[in-house]
Amino acid sequence: MARVHVFDHPLIQHKLTILRDRRTGPKEFRELVNEIAMLMAYEMTRDLPTEEVEVETPIAVARSRVLAGRKLGLIPILRAGLGMVEGMLRLIPAAKVGHIGVYRDPATLEPVEYYVKLPPDLPERDLFLLDPMLATGGSAVWAVDAVKRRGGTHVRFVSLIAAPEGIRRLTDAHPDVDVYVAAVDERLDEHGYIVPGLGDAGDRLFGTK
Ligand code: URA
Repeated sequence: MARVHVFDHPLIQHKLTILRDRRTGPKEFRELVNEIAMLMAYEMTRDLPTEEVEVETPIAVARSRVLAGRKLGLIPILRAGLGMVEGMLRLIPAAKVGHIGVYRDPATLEPVEYYVKLPPDLPERDLFLLDPMLATGGSAVWAVDAVKRRGGTHVRFVSLIAAPEGIRRLTDAHPDVDVYVAAVDERLDEHGYIVPGLGDAGDRLFGTK
C-alpha cells in the first residue's frame, strides 16, 4: 500500500505560503521551488541505508558512515518538474537526471509522450519522479507507467501541492509508489487547477503568463 508523506516542517510551510502568493514573481518563485525541493530531499532521504567505513582524520582513524545501497535518479516531468531539480541536486549531487515529457491530446484528452530520456541503469536506481503539482493524477500515472515500462522498479513521486483526487488516482494505479508532498489542498476546479493551489506552476516558474 502506498504511503503518503506530508512534510509539515515549518520552513517548508513558510516558503510554500510565499510561493502561493499571486504577487510572488518568477525569480523568487524559482528560488523558493528549489529551496522547498531541497528541504523535501532532506526529509525524503531519511531512510537511505548507510554503511560504516574508516576515514583518517588529521588526528586518528574514525569509524564513520557513508551512503550505501541503490544509486539515485531524479526524473522531472516536463516542464514544471524542472524547477525542482537544482534544489534536489544540491543535496544529492551524484543523482542522475532523466526527463520525461507528456502533453494531453486536446481531442482525446489522453496523455501523449513527446520526450523520454532516462538513465540506462534504471532498474538499479531509487527513482524520484518530480512534478510540483499533483492535480488530476493523469500525467503522474502515465509517467510512472512510462518509467516502469523501461525497467524502473523503485519509484517514488514528489510534488509540492497535491489534490486529494490526484493522490487517490496515483496510489490506486500504483500502490507500490510512495508519494511525498508539502501540502494536500481542497480540490480541483473545473479546469483541473488545484484549489487554492498556486496557479500554473510552469507559467509562474518560467514567466510565460
Ligand atoms: N498544474 C499546475 O501547474 N497547477 C495546477 O493547479 C494544476 C496543474
